[in-house]
Amino acid sequence: MCGIIGYIGKNHPKEVLVKGLKNLEYRGYDSAGIALKNKEEVQIIKSVGKVVDLETKINNSKLIDSNIGIAHTRWATHGKPTEVNAHPHQVGNVTIVHNGIIENALELREELINEGVKFNSDTDTEVVATLLNKYYDGNPINTIEKVIRIVKGSYALGILFNDKDVLYATRKDSPLIVGIGDDDNFIASDIAAIINYTNKYMLLEEGEIAEIYSNSINIVKDGNEVEKEILITNISSMDNDKCGYDHYMVKEIMEEPVVLEKTFKPYLDNLDLLPDLTKYEEIHIVACGSAMYAGVIGSSLLEEYANTRVYVEVASEYRYKNIIYNNKTLVILISQSGETADTIAAMRMANEKGVDTLAIVNVKTSTIARESSMQVFIEAGPEIAVATTKAYILQVGILSLLAYKTAYDKKLVDIDVVEEARGLPRLLKEVLDRRDDYLKIAKSIYEKEDIFFIGRKIDYAISMEGSLKLKEVSYIHSEAYQAGELKHGTISLINDGYPVFAIITDDKIKDKTISNVEEVKSRGALVIIISNEEIKGYDLEIVVPKINSFLQPILVVPVLQLIAYEVAKLRNCDIDKPKNLAKSVTVE
Ligand code: F6R
Repeated sequence: MCGIIGYIGKNHPKEVLVKGLKNLEYRGYDSAGIALKNKEEVQIIKSVGKVVDLETKINNSKLIDSNIGIAHTRWATHGKPTEVNAHPHQVGNVTIVHNGIIENALELREELINEGVKFNSDTDTEVVATLLNKYYDGNPINTIEKVIRIVKGSYALGILFNDKDVLYATRKDSPLIVGIGDDDNFIASDIAAIINYTNKYMLLEEGEIAEIYSNSINIVKDGNEVEKEILITNISSMDNDKCGYDHYMVKEIMEEPVVLEKTFKPYLDNLDLLPDLTKYEEIHIVACGSAMYAGVIGSSLLEEYANTRVYVEVASEYRYKNIIYNNKTLVILISQSGETADTIAAMRMANEKGVDTLAIVNVKTSTIARESSMQVFIEAGPEIAVATTKAYILQVGILSLLAYKTAYDKKLVDIDVVEEARGLPRLLKEVLDRRDDYLKIAKSIYEKEDIFFIGRKIDYAISMEGSLKLKEVSYIHSEAYQAGELKHGTISLINDGYPVFAIITDDKIKDKTISNVEEVKSRGALVIIISNEEIKGYDLEIVVPKINSFLQPILVVPVLQLIAYEVAKLRNCDIDKPKNLAKSVTVE
């Protein structure tokens, strides 16, 4: 989603801003822009499309001398992705970049129009710039404080005032950090933007205003100075990172064995480092997209083996429901970024009700990591491809260990999953090394328009992720269906050559799924079986190593990830940045 980078220092900002925007590309965007400032003027350059298009435009422009600037990648919310709607937005004395959504923008816009204001763009951001300009009294902090009392919604703002050689920033419900250099300082929507220049940063908290000079930073809230902790990131660099792979997506899939080993290590040495779930009567798993599908796998394991009641809910629905909690409810939030707006809202709702919240999260400094009552971190490292792969596998991995520990503590299982889990990275590597087999399957389906994934119980949960991965990167329409449900309507779509992936790993229900596979086969479907035992008689088949049920999905989903990748590649799709998608969905 939108990205912000800002710079003040001894150098011309161009290089830092362009580099920062490139590092933010992974978040997803459809236009970009920069503003450079000196004592006399502000120069703004914007472009629709990729950051390289903006860079070309910048390189073809005569740039003003400057040592302060802000830049932005925009993922359209209010108004189409046009140059006029791209940020920065300048109104009179004020130039800003903005992430988030101003919820009362329409109302404020009407009021301002009645006062005679003429707007150039369709954006909520221009409304904020207009208000800042309207209330500007020569004191930036007072002005910002006044305006943030008027606007409702979410915002991370980078702000320049014409008559001040200072960079200002503030935020609410949308992340923003202040990066600390030697003779220069930065603002950024995430550390990726500034990682080539510094590893030191401060997290800006809700309502704080940063006043940033080249060699000093003041943070104020409600008129008072705030002492900030300086944090050091261990992320090294975002570039040259494809390590010889064509795309981040495949590179990140190939990293799965290593990050799985790293994530599992402390827990395999001592399972009691994981939270004790036996004390809860009911668990709600709340997340979005793939993270939610990881939750479905977790719920399947917790219910089946640990006798625990679990509800899984999409965060954008959960947050608006009348949820009935009791004092033995646990809410598990799953999020790679830890900044997904709907998941944050669901967490805050549970926190306000005094319910325990457990975050399974990748980014340790994220809002969800900081505001949840318990955390289990996955060690995915930066995930650049918009479609999640390695983070999803680790989310499933943690949920599998949690389900096993709960079942074991309740004395409901006596198998040794820990020992088998130690061998899992090796088995996973074997699965990933069969790229030719996945390419063969991809070649048989990449020209199709519709594809089904079917399975029962945990195999249905796996199907949902397989289907999402395929459609989001290849743009082929696909659906996941409970195998037994097909004949209640959907089977009418099946005709000759219609691809159906059947996921069959659950021994207890295997024969039932095979009967459903027969139903589609007899209607001409091209059947592709993904299983953990040979099942003969169908068009194509992948057999993954068989392992205990807690860990089995971790050997199956990567097959579907790689098939999705190969299909998208054969269709020449923009694999790492599929159209319309954003990596970190920081708006509702
Ligand atoms: C799909 C995908 C998304 C995310 C979802 C949640 O490949 O990446 O569905 O899983 O947007 O994001 P996080 O985990 O950051 O909360």
